[in-house]
Amino acid sequence: MQLQLQTWQEVETYLQTSRSVIIPIGSTEQHGPVGLIGTDAICAEVIARGVGEATGALVAPTIAVGMAQHHLGFAGSMTLRPSTLIAVLRDMVDSFVKHGFDRFYFINGHGGNVATVAAAFSEIYAARSLAAPANAAPIKCRLKNWWQNSEVHEIARELYGEAEGSHATPSEVAVTQFAYPEAIKSAPLDPPVAPRGDFADAADYRRKFPDGRIGSNPGLASPEAGRRLYEAAVAAIAGDYQKWVAA
Ligand code: NI
Repeated sequence: MQLQLQTWQEVETYLQTSRSVIIPIGSTEQHGPVGLIGTDAICAEVIARGVGEATGALVAPTIAVGMAQHHLGFAGSMTLRPSTLIAVLRDMVDSFVKHGFDRFYFINGHGGNVATVAAAFSEIYAARSLAAPANAAPIKCRLKNWWQNSEVHEIARELYGEAEGSHATPSEVAVTQFAYPEAIKSAPLDPPVAPRGDFADAADYRRKFPDGRIGSNPGLASPEAGRRLYEAAVAAIAGDYQKWVAA
């Protein structure tokens, strides 16, 4: 169930049986010549909604802008500074805590968010440990990258092998094609599989990866593959969520 489609009374009723909430977090950043700017937010959102349907969990609005400074060399990309994103996460969690939520399960669509979200969890726990009364109920946060489970890995390996790469991957583009078939793009990809490597700031990234992709061939994506990846991710993450909430 989506938080945005409930009334406050319905949320109070939900809290009588569950104190857990799923929070999708993505990014708004270039994804090469055929990937949508919203790829990471779209993947996190549709998979989180699927997990919400499978488990009955409440799903918060998507945090659609993440930590993506390295993509700012490409038009349309947006970033929050790490410190800003940490502040956003703290305020969202604190808002939910005020009403009795104590389990925060973030479904993430962007590798660049991972370090900052981990730091945000440390800030949230530190504030709690320093200021909350000793007998306050504990709160727990978890970050789950949608692509990091054996089910999704298996499909990506079977379909794309080495051409999966690490940015603007055919897997993530396929999930967006499944979710938004009306927005499927096509463009020449030269070379078909993009170069690999590391990067520092946005200028460095653009110099090394001129069309925005890293190691991937998103031209291999299809909406049919996107459906398989979506269903595998939802099943794997729903299981993980239920185990975690019950622990
Ligand atoms: Ni992405």
